[in-house]
Amino acid sequence: MKHDLLHVLTEMKDDFVSGQQLSDRLGVSRTAIWKHMENLRQEGYVIEAVPRKGYQLKRRPETLSEAEIKAGLPTRKIGQTTIYKKSVHSTQTLAKETYREGTPHGTTVVASEQTGGRGRMERPWQSPENTSISVSIIVKPDISLREAPQLTLVTAVAISDALETISKLPVQIKWPNDIYINDCKVAGILTEMQAESDQMQMMVVGIGLNINQKKEQFPADLQNKATSLYIESGQEWSRTQILQALFVSFEQWYDLWIKEGFTQIRKMWEHYAGAYNQPVKVIQGNDTIVGHMLGINNEGVLQLQDQNGQVHLIYSGDLGLLRRGGHQSEHMPNEK
Ligand code: BTN
Repeated sequence: MKHDLLHVLTEMKDDFVSGQQLSDRLGVSRTAIWKHMENLRQEGYVIEAVPRKGYQLKRRPETLSEAEIKAGLPTRKIGQTTIYKKSVHSTQTLAKETYREGTPHGTTVVASEQTGGRGRMERPWQSPENTSISVSIIVKPDISLREAPQLTLVTAVAISDALETISKLPVQIKWPNDIYINDCKVAGILTEMQAESDQMQMMVVGIGLNINQKKEQFPADLQNKATSLYIESGQEWSRTQILQALFVSFEQWYDLWIKEGFTQIRKMWEHYAGAYNQPVKVIQGNDTIVGHMLGINNEGVLQLQDQNGQVHLIYSGDLGLLRRGGHQSEHMPNEK
């Protein structure tokens, strides 16, 4: 029925088609037509209804597909092999399950919706259907295990560059894995690796991006902490276009990192780093260090100077900005 209704609406897309016409043509009541129209609207179809004229299909929801993602994608490797799922538990888990020795570098797993998406420290990550992007990229860097955490920072630069170029919005990185626009989180990164006796086999870079969510579509406790490109710009974005831009940017920054090391990435990371030179608080388990963020060193390790002038090297933890008056912003958007 849904298929038949869409077929007629598409055929008549330059005109209005009345409820009576649809009911005669499809052999169901006008009430049934109305109910199906509502279902289509729920799925993201924009259907105009004008009294005495009828219905007109204005826009279809943007559907992601492997073919669309790969069409004209100007990368050498990233995304050239793509596994697309409409709905999946977690792209990160699927990427790791799918990985075999022969899996090409740059293979991506993309989903329109995740039902069990996860963030850092096993926190849940919300990835609602049709409005977000969930992608995991399999890479095979020839690096030491010590250098592995740098990939999160490389990815943060790649996301920031892609989002800023495409949307012209002010994008900021919050160490180590969060991307912010106007003080709210728009994207998160989860990097995992598989190694055997100190030899890196592969890494999976998971990226969650909030694209077309409206404010009320976020859970109430996240509405002041999380944001989407739609909320910040007031316009809807093509997820395919953003995904392609992300793949291009990721390939460019990843290749630079592999070829020239972390120094170039560091400069760009510090350009985007929101808390650069500001008072911050880093929580590591039960320990908290308060100080000024000096930036990151040439290995990608965070440097924090405490009140006594001592410089701490921070390898992991959660960072919060200390605002004037000592108020801490504890941002964990998309994570319940
Ligand atoms: C974080 O902010 O803690 C990281 C969030 C990472 C979410 C992405 S969405 C794609 C991939 N699949 C997952 O289950 N998680 C990552």
